[in-house]
Amino acid sequence: MVVYISYTVVMTEWRTQFRKQMNELDSTAHSRAIDALLNYETVKYFNNEDFEARRYDENLEQLRRASLKSQSTLSLLNTGQQLIIATALVAMLWRATQGVVDGRMTLGDLVMVNAFMIQLYIPLNFLGVIYREIKQSLTDLDKMFTLLEREREVADAPGAPPLQVSEGVVRFEHVSFAYDASRPILHDVSFEIPAGKTVAVVGPSGAGKSTLARLLYRFYDVGGGRVTIDGQDIRAVTQASLRQAIGIVPQDTVLFNDTVEYNIAYGRPGAARAEVEAAARAAHIHDFIAATPKGYDTMVGERGLKLSGGEKQRVAIARTLLKNPPVLIFDEATSALDSANERAIQAELRSVSEGKTALVIAHRLSTVVDAHQIVVMDQGRVVECGPHAELLARGGRYAEMWRLQQSGEPTGTADPAPA
Ligand SMILES: Nc1ncnc2c1ncn2[C@@H]1O[C@H](COP(=O)(O)OP(=O)(O)OP(=O)(O)O)[C@@H](O)[C@H]1O
Ligand SMILES: [Mg+2]
Repeated sequence: MVVYISYTVVMTEWRTQFRKQMNELDSTAHSRAIDALLNYETVKYFNNEDFEARRYDENLEQLRRASLKSQSTLSLLNTGQQLIIATALVAMLWRATQGVVDGRMTLGDLVMVNAFMIQLYIPLNFLGVIYREIKQSLTDLDKMFTLLEREREVADAPGAPPLQVSEGVVRFEHVSFAYDASRPILHDVSFEIPAGKTVAVVGPSGAGKSTLARLLYRFYDVGGGRVTIDGQDIRAVTQASLRQAIGIVPQDTVLFNDTVEYNIAYGRPGAARAEVEAAARAAHIHDFIAATPKGYDTMVGERGLKLSGGEKQRVAIARTLLKNPPVLIFDEATSALDSANERAIQAELRSVSEGKTALVIAHRLSTVVDAHQIVVMDQGRVVECGPHAELLARGGRYAEMWRLQQSGEPTGTADPAPA
């Protein structure tokens, strides 16, 4: 029994690594296949089908080897267990038979020893199997346990009250932030969006503009300083109430693989068809939808791939308008649109943002000239701040960006990204 148990425990512990390896390779192979399928357009653009197939194949080959290893060590474990038991059985029977031959034991004793053996052998074997199975299942669940132990990045403070929006004043106060401690992204950013006004944030790519939107939405907590809405620190209120109060049109829109109506109504589940249509009209997408054969029942495809970039953006605008929150964030909301459509939507956005607090992030400066304030960011710092005319007169960073864009603007298709 001692040999059997020690052997089972030691072998099972040793086998765990192969099982782990197998699980690891299994999940790598899976995620690789899914990644390649999701990015099938990129794979085709670069003619890399063979490359992807080869990578997947290599992965499967590794997985095959690991599975074989896992299986053969299992067989080794089983064989060893059976050998130990068989040896012990033979030894015991031999000793008992010897006892009968020598006259120390009766035939009845031999039968009794035999019965004991069977009663011991079956549960022992059973225990070995159970121990192995439990150990294996725990190994398989390893990843899930790690996930469960992860702390939440953003958690509600205990007993946090809901956010009360009366006017909708948004204030960033000396905010600093880093996604990764080794690389600070925002440094001492301060500005205010007064109630019912629009403030634009402009600046080069990677300056940290979208990060501001994510912080306001509290996808992350600020590293230093604070963000407030009507004087309430957003870390002190519930996330649900905060996100209820903010509508965002993100930089890259992804849609659900469902109908256009479903995707627009996602802004406020349960909205009536008439409200969905009104939002679609405001986002200038109603005419397009109405002209398609299936209208609002058109399926948009995975992540919305059956719609053009501009159409997707307008669906995203429509669903945010339907949500109708007191604070709005537009992160390059019209960047994928042609100039005519952009102008039309800009006018519409201006009228719906009437009386709402709005943060507009833009590359094309012509779309933000009438913002209450324009915040110019560079490398995570606010370098200039003021209304359009004032910034132009100052002749600083903004004036330079403006001049650069104006000189390329006449065609109306100038690259919206300033160098
Ligand atoms: N989830 C993340 N983890 C780590 N770094 C990130 C993450 N998201 C963004 N960054 C980094 O933070 C910096 C600022 O990103 P952000 O998206 O705010 O830029 P942006 O000003 O919106 O640029 P763009 O005009 O190109 O959209 C970038 O350098 C980016 O590499
Ligand atoms: Mg961005």
